[in-house]
Amino acid sequence: MIVLIGATNFLGPAVLQKLLDSGHKVKCFVRAGSDTQKLKEIKGEKEISPGNLNSLDSIYSSIKEAEAVIYLPDLKNTYYVKNLIGAANRAKLNRVIFIGSTTVLVPQENEEKKAKLKSEKMIEKSKLDYTILRPTMIYGSPKDTNFSKMLKFIKENNYFYTFGSGENLIQPVYIEDIAQAIINILKNEKTYRKTYEIPGKEPLTYNKMLDIVKDKTKINFKVRKMPIGPSKFFVNIYSKLSKKPKLDTGQIDRLQYDKAYPYDDARRDFEYSPINFEEGILKLIKKLDI
Ligand SMILES: NC(=O)c1ccc[n+]([C@@H]2O[C@H](COP(=O)([O-])OP(=O)(O)OC[C@H]3O[C@@H](n4cnc5c(N)ncnc54)[C@H](OP(=O)(O)O)[C@@H]3O)[C@@H](O)[C@H]2O)c1
Repeated sequence: MIVLIGATNFLGPAVLQKLLDSGHKVKCFVRAGSDTQKLKEIKGEKEISPGNLNSLDSIYSSIKEAEAVIYLPDLKNTYYVKNLIGAANRAKLNRVIFIGSTTVLVPQENEEKKAKLKSEKMIEKSKLDYTILRPTMIYGSPKDTNFSKMLKFIKENNYFYTFGSGENLIQPVYIEDIAQAIINILKNEKTYRKTYEIPGKEPLTYNKMLDIVKDKTKINFKVRKMPIGPSKFFVNIYSKLSKKPKLDTGQIDRLQYDKAYPYDDARRDFEYSPINFEEGILKLIKKLDI
């Protein structure tokens, strides 16, 4: 039996569906008060196991008879990772798959990156047969906060933005490619004690991405180019005035970096073979009925 931690949010339902479709028995570790509606809609038999990552005992109770754990919550919560490692040691359970992020590879320093790297170090120092998968920006579900939001915005407003030249590279990954990667590595010993980047098929510029979106949506929207300097100036004022700012100047800076990653190791060790952006965005457009 596999214990899936973090099943309720964005990536979780896709991973759960793939596990069930592949014939695995799955127990979802879910905290009290979490919205489990999405899980109930997924076809296949699964067990819900209550618990909270802030309690090592509750993790232990849930995983003590498991053959493997899949850990989806953000690695920025180092305390949760520490508890999971402690519970796995107590349960003498070795195989744990963690989902990290390529944000740790961006040159810019920030607190979130520091915390995620700290978790990765803890995992590497543990005795676990771990694998850390680091996806790039994930898209492909109506719940994604990246491309679904963008598509809905374009449909409503007939325009979108670029910050800077738009010539920076991105390599977004389709959600089901991550779920498939998890299935491929679950029992694959070649992947034990290793970390892999898992991006989309090939890098493309932000401008090219918008061209593909125009082509696939058949919406000839306008692109408003926002120069970096003034954008940072206004975002800085906004983030000071807003109680809960949704954008900060660091995010504008991060948009400028090329985020392109090779994946030869993943291809070699577990036949990682993601779809391209044209194919992925078309699937999302159909899911959103745009
Ligand atoms: N979105 C992207 O573009 C992107 C890109 C690269 C990497 N990633 C990584 O992909 C992973 C999955 O992302 P996501 O957006 O689906 O998930 P997420 O928001 O990081 O994780 C939330 C999940 O963990 C559960 N959780 C949080 N605290 C918990 C606790 N104390 N006890 C038990 N469960 C707890 C949540 O349950 P509740 O329902 O109770 O809140 C939810 O199911 C993350 O590690 C993220 O960093 C995402």
